[in-house]
Amino acid sequence: MNPQVDNSVVTTTVTLISALVLLAAVLFMGASLIGVIDNVPPDDGSRKQAAILERIKPVSQVSFETPKPAAVVKLSGKEVYNKVCAACHAAGTLGAPKTGDKAAWEPRFAQGIDTLVNHAVNGIRAMPAKGGDPSLTEANLHDSIVYMLGESGIKVETAPAEAPPAPAPAEAK
Ligand code: HEC
Repeated sequence: MNPQVDNSVVTTTVTLISALVLLAAVLFMGASLIGVIDNVPPDDGSRKQAAILERIKPVSQVSFETPKPAAVVKLSGKEVYNKVCAACHAAGTLGAPKTGDKAAWEPRFAQGIDTLVNHAVNGIRAMPAKGGDPSLTEANLHDSIVYMLGESGIKVETAPAEAPPAPAPAEAK
């Protein structure tokens, strides 16, 4: 073979490959430059973390916006009565003194409001402790008893003479 022809073929080939490599390098640099511009602002990992938190977050979440215990304490005597006490005291179920029956309530009221509250808190005979709702406070019971007595025509403005003023009714206001 002719060594001159050989040589020129080699030169041409080397030149062509060099040009292609150079072109590839230019394209690569251009591409990575676009990549850098695209990436602004650079991620410090917080985006990945946010994505993970989003992915693993619970399907449903419970809201504690209105705490229940506070709502129970705020119930008025009438509300407590309607919610719990009326179940028995509206109709006189199980022999409960009926709301509105003054004759049934008068002898009980004669024991003093504190005794009635005490019996309602702890239960007495067929009357369950706290009317069966342990979430009720002593103040709730006091208020609902006063409400029942009021509905029965018995006014509880001041404690009866034999009962000393107790702290419980005072805190119920
Ligand atoms: C499951 C039925 C039932 C519910 C609910 C109930 N009571 Fe009674 N309650 C009774 C019965 C029965 C009596 C009569 C008990 C007895 O003297 O034998 C009674 C009696 C009472 C008495 C009189 C106690 C005494 O010393 O004579 C008071 C006060 C009273 N209840 C308050 C309440 C209040 C306040 C509520 C609501 C928070 C309530 N009750 C809910 C059944 C109930």
